[in-house]
Amino acid sequence: MKEMLNVGLSEAKRKKVADGLIKLLANNSVLYLKTHNFHWNVVGPMFQPLHSVFEAQYIDLWNAGDTIAERVRALGFHVPASYADFAKLSKINEVVGTRQVKAKNMINQLEHDNEVMVRLARELLAETEEADDQVSVDLLSERMEVHEKNAWMLRSFLE
Ligand SMILES: [Fe+2]
Repeated sequence: MKEMLNVGLSEAKRKKVADGLIKLLANNSVLYLKTHNFHWNVVGPMFQPLHSVFEAQYIDLWNAGDTIAERVRALGFHVPASYADFAKLSKINEVVGTRQVKAKNMINQLEHDNEVMVRLARELLAETEEADDQVSVDLLSERMEVHEKNAWMLRSFLE
């Protein structure tokens, strides 16, 4: 029961953080599926390294979704978890259908998307610091680190 939850953060603060984390979860989930899509559909001379890099990234995104969702639960709120909810809350552009996307274009898109994730986490981090929720601050800063690293690795394929 929500009224019994007392971790030293007001309900208003927890709600603000949880709403931000739900937005992060939605974007994370769309990027997860998109990265898995590219793992399946990539073709060309860079097939093997890209197939592997995309795999490492989608596995991380899958695990991160669980961590983010469970943080929302620990803050005392429920988590929307449907493709419809995620699509509504996410800014990540999906590739719909089965048209072949060139490997270079996949890299460009995922680099851009990982930067979208960094900027979103950065924006939420400021609000989360204001709400004094250090645990969520840590989570957001870890996610920023991962997405910055992903963007760098993807960018490196293009140089
Ligand atoms: Fe696979």
